Amino acid sequence: MIVITPKLDMESKEALYIQLYKYIRNEIMEGRMEKNSKLPSIRTLCDHLNISRTPVVLAYEQLLAEGYIQSKARSGFFIMDIAESSFFSSNTLIEEKNNILSSPSRLYHASKYEEVLYDFGYGSVDLENFPFIKWKKMMNRCLLPESSELLLYGDLQGDEELREEIAVYLHQIRGVRCSPQQIVIGAGTYHSLDLLFQLLREDVSLLALEKSVNDGVQTLIEQYRFGIHSLELEHDGVRMEDVYKSKAQAVYVTPSHQFPFGMTMSVNKRIKLLNWANEEQAYIIENDYDGEFRYNSRPIPSLQSFDQNERVIYIGTFSKALTPSFRISYLVLPTRLLERFREKKHSYDQLASPIFQKTLQMFMKSGDFERHMRKMRNLYKKKHDILLQAIHEYLGDNVTIIGAGSGLHILLEVRNGMTEDELIESAKQRGVKIYPTSVYALEGERSAMPAILLGFGGLSEERIVLGIEQLKIAWGME
Ligand SMILES: Cc1ncc(COP(=O)(O)O)c(C=O)c1O
Repeated sequence: MIVITPKLDMESKEALYIQLYKYIRNEIMEGRMEKNSKLPSIRTLCDHLNISRTPVVLAYEQLLAEGYIQSKARSGFFIMDIAESSFFSSNTLIEEKNNILSSPSRLYHASKYEEVLYDFGYGSVDLENFPFIKWKKMMNRCLLPESSELLLYGDLQGDEELREEIAVYLHQIRGVRCSPQQIVIGAGTYHSLDLLFQLLREDVSLLALEKSVNDGVQTLIEQYRFGIHSLELEHDGVRMEDVYKSKAQAVYVTPSHQFPFGMTMSVNKRIKLLNWANEEQAYIIENDYDGEFRYNSRPIPSLQSFDQNERVIYIGTFSKALTPSFRISYLVLPTRLLERFREKKHSYDQLASPIFQKTLQMFMKSGDFERHMRKMRNLYKKKHDILLQAIHEYLGDNVTIIGAGSGLHILLEVRNGMTEDELIESAKQRGVKIYPTSVYALEGERSAMPAILLGFGGLSEERIVLGIEQLKIAWGME
């Protein structure tokens, strides 16, 4: 058995488990720990280093997850045979890669260079249940000579048959009333929004929006130099008095599941908002990014479904329902804006790949998408319930859960005297990545109590519980 004596710095800002993990990883990579040799047991190493169990367990877990070691039942942990791999041959190379290759992230999930055991990234989805085989089979069909037109640019508005499928789907699941001709496929929500802002530019100079919105949306609004009017959020959606006062020509909302706070706009307010838009001849931009997932109550139809006067522009995405990597979103345009789109008062070609569009169309037409959605709704409900239960069990009265019941994330208001940065940093020390909410506040709108964003789509049920347990320790709630 190997004896390990790393130099651990108890004063360092770097968590003990990371120091230990890095030490063992370096020893393996630099050939000082031979393949198949046995690591000390957790107990032995704790005693030897005079440290508690947790850092050793976390370090071993990380090494296991990354394939540096393997666990053999009733025998212990053993070094894997990876030292010959040229990719891993130099640790300095990995460190350099960290610095050079990691691009600025949009906080959706941890980058692959981060050392994270429990990532509560809100942009993650469950990958284990992705229908790999079916999707691959359908995608292969797009790559046959008889489908060679899919190798060209494709329809400017998006694959016609896909638009037909989306129109049916939106009507069934979200109550949206539209024809396939009103749909414009995009390559992600920001692409769709960017296109929309180009179409709206001549009508809109002042935009009203929820006081906390996605950072990407904020950036786009700044780029278009729209004046903005911030709308206070109440438990049932935006404060209507603010809308009436705004004098805006358009309002941006996430009525099914406000991002990030998670409230649902009441039917009463939906009607008031529509009446206002009709009287003012204003537009409502409805971003329905995760409206498919509702767990403990009946689905609330989209705002668009109540609209009699073509005031609502509906935006949706397949990023939550399927996976973000295909980059497929859609706009449902009212006639006036559709005309503008067709007159090409915008700079866009079709950006979503025709091959992915066609594969998605086949996936929807075959009924596989509907089956997948049914399965994922049950699965996410289970994860959602387990998350809430773990929070009650481990964090108790020290926190308040906000925005539960739909989507793939919740917010946690934490009352232990720590700031948002401190909550995030202390969680990181325990291998848990959680996400800030202050970045989404419009200027001057930051709330007093720190709130943390926890996505649960990409974590297994087991990891959700373990992650919350670690938060309890990190936040001193023992
Ligand atoms: C408010 C909001 N809109 C849209 C999206 C999805 O964006 P995209 O379609 O670019 O993946 C997200 C991602 O989580 C979001 O939070």
